[in-house]
Formats: sequence, C-alpha cells, structure tokens
Amino acid sequence: MGDRIEIKDGKLIVPEKPIIPFIEGDGIGKDITEPTQKVIEAAVEKAYGRHRRIEWKEVLAGQKAFDQTGEWLPDATIESFKDYLVGIKGPLQTPVGGGIRSLNVALRQTLDLYVCLRPIRWFKGVPSPIRYPEMVNMHIFRENTEDIYAGIEYMTGEEETTKFRDFLVDEMGVKNIRFPESTSFGVKPISKDGSERLVKAAIRYAIDRNLPSVTLVHKGNIMKFTEGAFKNWGYDLAEEYFKDKTFTWRHYESIVKAHGKEAADDALAMAKDNGKVIIKDVITDAFLQESLLRPYDHSVIATMNLNGDYISDQLAAMVGGIGISPGANINYKSGYAIFEATHGTAPTIAGTGQANPSSLILSGVMMLEYMGWQEAAEEIFYGMEKTFSKRKVTADLHAYMEGAELLSTSAFTDEIIKNMY
Ligand code: NAI
Repeated sequence: MGDRIEIKDGKLIVPEKPIIPFIEGDGIGKDITEPTQKVIEAAVEKAYGRHRRIEWKEVLAGQKAFDQTGEWLPDATIESFKDYLVGIKGPLQTPVGGGIRSLNVALRQTLDLYVCLRPIRWFKGVPSPIRYPEMVNMHIFRENTEDIYAGIEYMTGEEETTKFRDFLVDEMGVKNIRFPESTSFGVKPISKDGSERLVKAAIRYAIDRNLPSVTLVHKGNIMKFTEGAFKNWGYDLAEEYFKDKTFTWRHYESIVKAHGKEAADDALAMAKDNGKVIIKDVITDAFLQESLLRPYDHSVIATMNLNGDYISDQLAAMVGGIGISPGANINYKSGYAIFEATHGTAPTIAGTGQANPSSLILSGVMMLEYMGWQEAAEEIFYGMEKTFSKRKVTADLHAYMEGAELLSTSAFTDEIIKNMY
C-alpha cells in the first residue's frame, strides 16, 4: 500500500511509495496514459531499484466520468487531488452544451493552481523552425487565475452591459468608448497579491536551479495600472524579499542615473559573478521578437495570463510543437500540483497508435522533479533525448524529418525505456 504526499512548512514530504491520482483523459488520453506510466515506472525502478515505487490511483473526469457517474468532473476527483496533492492528467475534451466551459479551467480554479509552468527545451533531432534551437532553454511562469481570462465579460445589447456602460460613462466620467451602443466589455483584474505569488514562485525556481534571470513580460507601457503594476510589484518583491539573491534592472537604471553607465555595468557584472539572479522586464511584443532572435537572453519568464497563453504556444512551436511540450498547474503554498499534456484530445487519431506521448511523459518528468525524484527524471530525459537523436519518432514528427524511422506510440515508449542510462 502506498502513502500520501504531504506538505509541511512549505516543503513536500514524499514517501517511498506515494499514491498519485491520474486522469486518463479523453481521445488520445487513453493511448498515451499507460505508456507514460510505463516509462515513469521504468525510470523509478532504474533510479531507485525496489526502494521507491509509484502507486497509481485512477480518478475520473471527462467522458469516462460522465458515462460512469453522470458528472463531467465528480467531487471525488477534486477531493483526491486535494488528498494526495500531486497528480497527472491526460487531455480532456470540452463538454459540448454542458454548463462547464472547460474542465481544465474548473480544476485550476477549484484548486487555485495559480502557476501554469511550461519548460521549453529542445531535443536534438527534433525539427524546429528557428536557426539555433539548441539555445532555447526557457521556463514560463504564467499567472493562471486573473487577467482578462477571469471571465468577467458583458455582451453588447444585454441589460447588464448597458448598466455597466452607463456606470462607466455617468459615474466614472469615461469618455473614450468609441461606439457605446455596440460595445462589449471585458474586465482585467490584476492584483498585487496575485502578481506577487506568481513572481515569487518564478524567482524561487530560478534560485533553486541556478538559472541566470527572470524576465517580467508585460504591456505596462499601455496598461499602466494592470500590466505596469505587475512589473512594479515584481521588482518591489525581488528587491525586498530576495534582496541578497537578485539584482534588478530597475536598480541598474537607478545606478546609471546616479553614477553613470560604467558604475552600473560594474555592479551588474559583480552581481553575475556572485551568482545573483538578474530580474529584468520586457514589453510583450518585443519579447515575442527577442525570444525568436535571441532565445539565449531569456531563462525564466514571469507573466500574466493572456501574455502567457500566447508566449507558451510560440515558444512550444520553436522546439517542435505542442505534441512534445509538457506543462503543470501548481499552487506552491498548498502544494497542489497537476501535471498535464498541453495538447488536446486529437480525436482524429485516437485509438490508431499514432499519438505522440512525449508531452505527457515530459509532464511526468516535471512531476518527478517536483517530488524531488531527480534521478528518475533524468533517466527519462536521457532516454528520450537518445531516442530523438536516433531519429526514431511518432507520425506527427516523422512527417517533418527526413530519414526518420516511424514508430507507433507503444514502440516509441519501449525505445525510450531501452535508451535510459
Ligand atoms: P488538439 O491538440 O487535440 O489537436 C490539434 C492538432 O494536433 C491535431 O491535428 C491533432 O491530431 C494533433 N495532435 C495533438 N496532440 C497530438 C499528439 N500527442 N500526437 C500527435 N498529434 C497530436 O486540439 P483541438 O483539435 O483544438 O482540440 C480537441 C479537443 O481537445 C477539444 O475538445 C478541446 O477543448 C480539447 N483540448 C483540451 C486540452 C487539455 O485538456 N489540456 C488542451 C487543448 C484542447
């Protein structure tokens, strides 16, 4: 019998045989879940022999849940994630015509998983549209609970919308609604608390992994009190909370003003020598360009929900697309974390043995790292790297790789296991 993972004073306590709940997922979820578990089990055994093992516990969501219980996301599933803290999930289709907009969003909101973490790394051999994909090593911290995605929206013509518009115009004196009679509205909540907990998680992650920088990505030049405030709160937090471990670009600029550029450059060089994490900021549109042209300039990226959505997909495309990009939704305070495939249910290839399981497998790698089982994570990473470098791939990548060998989902999985250390 396995045991529960617990959290004490902000630190995870992971037993030798932790119980990990998993959602199989819809569509190709069934095709990729078992292979992923097989790879994780093989890696854990290779790394720790019989001392450690994962006890999988299936929990229901999506079509399978609806067929068995009449609910898309049963309370028992949420309770399991709360009980066991760490879980993994396949893709879920968005129910058509149901009351739930997205099961993924419901999970994130109910468990308050405020960080959407996406590491972006390139594997040798995987086709990439950019010139130096080997220089890509970025980690996106996307805020998951706020922003224009909070769902506070009003459709033009509806009674509430007219009330909202009249409030803005009559009470608040707003004058620049260009077409008041036909305008819909969306509200963009960005809070100090929400920004701080996100940036704190990003900086701590950079410190723990000896990563060189955290870039705050924002459109604060236009949206001063939301995105601009995010940037300022981020800098404030770094300078107050992580004073000894970071050096901010804002501080650099203040030295330039007071003592000139040379003094500021010296201070920056000294900070780098001392292993401090450099905290900088970039406007979103410039970031989208820079990440393509000079990906080596950025390491950890901290940003709000909408920017994070765009950035995640662009950076994923740079290293081979969503088929191989992993993700996690995490609350570092409660410890709740759900690791997930970032692609959808790919219904047209479900059950054909063509699905690429890499996204879910790499989410498993992130899960092992989160649990502190680094050695097992490295086994998988190494096995996968070697498989790609031998040009053995599934159909999605095969189409773009000359001279590659086409493997089914299960043959690809076996190859990864064979190629571990
Ligand atoms: P999708 O990601 O399922 O498919 C987009 C394209 O990528 C398709 O051509 C598909 O065949 C291919 N593809 C995706 N994953 C693949 C893999 N592992 N191996 C090989 N090929 C792969 O996106 P789509 O079609 O927009 O959405 C389908 C369903 O998935 C919808 O119900 C949507 O709501 C849901 N969805 C769920 C997500 C989640 O649970 N995290 C994320 C995105 C979509």
